[in-house]
Amino acid sequence: HDTTTTIDDFTAVADVPRRLFGSFVEQLGRGVYGGIYEPTHPTADTLGFRRDVLDLVKELGVTCVRYPGGNIVSNYRWEDGTGPRELRPVRRELAWHQTETNEVGIDDFYHWSKEAGTEIMLAVNMGTRGLQEALDELEYVNGAPGTYWADKRVANGIPEPMNIAMWCIGNEMDGPWQVGHMTPDEYASAVEKVAHAMKLAESGLEMVACGSSSAQMPTFGTWEKTVLARAYEYLSFVSAHAYYHDQDHETRKPEGMREFLASSEDMKRFIATVAGCADYAKAQNHGDKDIAISFDEWGVWYQDIWQKQEAEWKAAETEGLHTEPWPKAPHLLEDIYTTADAVVEGSLMITLLKHCDRVRSASRAQLVNVIAPIRAEENGPAWRQTIFYPFAEAANHARGTAYAPTIDGPTFHTETYGDVQALENVVTWDEATREGLILAVNRNPDAAHVLAVDLRSIIGEDADAVTVTHAQVLHEADPYRTNTADDPLAVTPRPLEVSADGSTVSFALPPISWA
Ligand code: AHR
Repeated sequence: HDTTTTIDDFTAVADVPRRLFGSFVEQLGRGVYGGIYEPTHPTADTLGFRRDVLDLVKELGVTCVRYPGGNIVSNYRWEDGTGPRELRPVRRELAWHQTETNEVGIDDFYHWSKEAGTEIMLAVNMGTRGLQEALDELEYVNGAPGTYWADKRVANGIPEPMNIAMWCIGNEMDGPWQVGHMTPDEYASAVEKVAHAMKLAESGLEMVACGSSSAQMPTFGTWEKTVLARAYEYLSFVSAHAYYHDQDHETRKPEGMREFLASSEDMKRFIATVAGCADYAKAQNHGDKDIAISFDEWGVWYQDIWQKQEAEWKAAETEGLHTEPWPKAPHLLEDIYTTADAVVEGSLMITLLKHCDRVRSASRAQLVNVIAPIRAEENGPAWRQTIFYPFAEAANHARGTAYAPTIDGPTFHTETYGDVQALENVVTWDEATREGLILAVNRNPDAAHVLAVDLRSIIGEDADAVTVTHAQVLHEADPYRTNTADDPLAVTPRPLEVSADGSTVSFALPPISWA
């Protein structure tokens, strides 16, 4: 180990919001059909939901799930997924070119969420629909019995209001790929009207406006400023979406891996810029609230694999009318994750925690099969991908207050971000139980580093010596190693050797590792 870095300078960020450990389920590919739902599976319950998948969702510690999209929401009719299953219409779904059978809809997802113990974050269609349908849906899910849509819900077997508080006003409406995409002005006007009317119905709703689909969008910044300034009064959140992958994963060039390992640098800049736009909107409105960030799509996604698949489809399809049957639950975006992917996701989670004063909600995209930590084999077992572990650790143990360290340690060089710190770390501490969590990554591909975390400034000068109850590390000699259906436990965290001396906890992190 070539260096030891001592970290003893921490700043309290904010209380850790439970919604930071959210996820995302979209009616995309085998996310729902063949993912959470497979009525013929041996573990299926009476509604057709897989119990083995539910068990893994609970183990993952997910707190909140965004639903039903994603790109599909922009051509989705929510009422299609209600009432007796055999009467539900089958539709063409334009975003991913698939058949939507509507076997699963909001009623079913509500039951699933109760089983999973998760809050629902619901998205409304702003592509092919708008204000009236959003109001109808709100009345259906949350209304007290006695009005038209609420009574339909009661008739469909759910007497109680679902009490869904968080509402996404569309999805990625800045993206040219989005059905019914809009200019910043068009969307700002739509959001102002929809959020205003929905809050007339229920003033306690927490409205989420779409931010940019990524920091690379041509309207990034302009979009946020226009939308947030216009609808400031009605908004609680603006969304942020960011996906990362190793651009050189096919050739395994070390340069690509280095850039990829530093992905959280991009996330940090993204958060700072969106927060700045929200502050601008606050100033322009002479307001007193901060619009928070809902980082409601984040994670590793090998978008180049998807783009190739999409190009092949398009090439195979003849120009003109597409009158052939559209695929049901096609295999889409079923990325298999490496050990390095898990380390990057670990560093992204650390980044979210370090900024949880501003990022008050986040959804790792997605949950099952589609760019997901959980893989469900058709009529077979469900298993954990490498990225399962860093998420689960944070979701299950990060409680109390998040503390961000100042780190002045070894660096490594990247083209995009220059020299970056090799070590990343965050500590959470729950004063009520006097228990805490230290999360750390070594993203240096070439060297191991020793980390000494002195917790005195967090736990108090006179605190008893720290006891370490469990410590684990995720690392493989081959950072491209994955889990597979045949070997689902190939990559799992192993015990980490830790020494605790008074208030200081020390441990060695091998190259490309998470602990
Ligand atoms: O998560 C996959 C897709 O990524 C979502 O449907 C969309 O919102 C984003 O572009």
